[in-house]
Amino acid sequence: NNALYKTAQEVLNNNWKNGFSVPCAKLYPFQWFWDSGLIAIGFAHFDMPKAEQEIKTLLDAQWGNGFIPHIIFHTESDTYFPGPDFHRSDLHPLSSKKYKSTGMTQPPVTGFVLEEIYKISKNKQATLKFIQEEIDKVYFNHEYFYNNRDVNNEGLVYIYHNWESGTDNSPIWDDIWKTMNPPEYTFERRDTTHVDASERPSKREYDHYLHIIEIAKEHNYSDEKIAELSPFLVQDPLFNAVLIKSNQSLINLYELIGNNDAKIKQLKQWQEKAIKTFNTKLFDENLGAYVHYDLRNEKQLNFLSSSSFAPLFANIPSKERAETMVNVMMERFGGNNQYLCASFDPTSERFNPKKYWRGPVWVNLNWMLFNGLINYGYNTIATRVKNDTVSIIEHNGFYEYFDSRKDIHGTVNAGYGGNNFSWSAALLIDLLN
Ligand code: DGY
Repeated sequence: NNALYKTAQEVLNNNWKNGFSVPCAKLYPFQWFWDSGLIAIGFAHFDMPKAEQEIKTLLDAQWGNGFIPHIIFHTESDTYFPGPDFHRSDLHPLSSKKYKSTGMTQPPVTGFVLEEIYKISKNKQATLKFIQEEIDKVYFNHEYFYNNRDVNNEGLVYIYHNWESGTDNSPIWDDIWKTMNPPEYTFERRDTTHVDASERPSKREYDHYLHIIEIAKEHNYSDEKIAELSPFLVQDPLFNAVLIKSNQSLINLYELIGNNDAKIKQLKQWQEKAIKTFNTKLFDENLGAYVHYDLRNEKQLNFLSSSSFAPLFANIPSKERAETMVNVMMERFGGNNQYLCASFDPTSERFNPKKYWRGPVWVNLNWMLFNGLINYGYNTIATRVKNDTVSIIEHNGFYEYFDSRKDIHGTVNAGYGGNNFSWSAALLIDLLN
């Protein structure tokens, strides 16, 4: 696997742009929040200054209220839609004066990324010094979430847009789209000039995506107004698991740094409430795993996806519950003719093995599942997830997502979306270490 490792380093170095990384040339030509964090984990293994710079640049784009945007538009680029002129982050009174961005966020990986970088580092003292300089910004970001996005004060934060979930066009949202009837917008897609349209969201789906942003813009991205008016308002198990994992990392790091008792106390309070509500509100006894909760329509969205298993990564389920989840995962997603782990329930009629988050395997979720399975002592299944990940990349290249059907790999290209995709490379490097 030495050659694969070298290629992964090349992918990362080629996507490095003087201070930050693009997820994928042309298709995603700016800095994305959760991509950036996961990319830093890869760099930490062979180029610590780049790992640190990646995070510094990301946190430099933080708003005055602690918010971190999902895309930071460092440059003008006509290969991406919707760009800065559509998103208009300047409408928010506390948005960054230095960078144009979107007015939505993404799964808050930064906390656990800092801890991963520390674990990887061969010079702990220097790395802890770097962390000390940056960590309060991450804490401030968590404070933003709990103060502005936990409308019931129950420990779970909402997302108001499917692009905030990271799992952009998941079939989970289909029922929410049915509650909306957005106008037919006129716009020019750019993604479908780089990637086959059959692998991307549809035009009508984009109408919904843009419509939610228009509503948020009408109210200058006010969190209060968004909570009141957005037709999309969801408590997402992946998003909240990532926040909980990051809370724990901040606690661990502040303990290492010392003299931060008040912050540690607050983090522990958030954590206790979050885990409790997570386990009651987001678990589906029938499916045997976690699901999304639609806050706007006050109901669970009862579908299995790779996000259903992400709580393993944050130590949220009890041992008994973890056992149930792992059995469900192996039965539905882990057959001999399947690569772990499809992003959506392969037994559902909404499953599509080629279309973005409607079925394909994603390396970032596999990386979280690998680590989650190790947490709970499922070493054999964890190894299967790791080997599956290495194997699909070996067969196809460093694609954005991959077909979960094992038999078709090797006969055709079963890697989809963008090629030379940064986090596929970054997390492969971490898995091989
Ligand atoms: C895209 O353009 O598809 C991105 O995932 C949005 O964040």
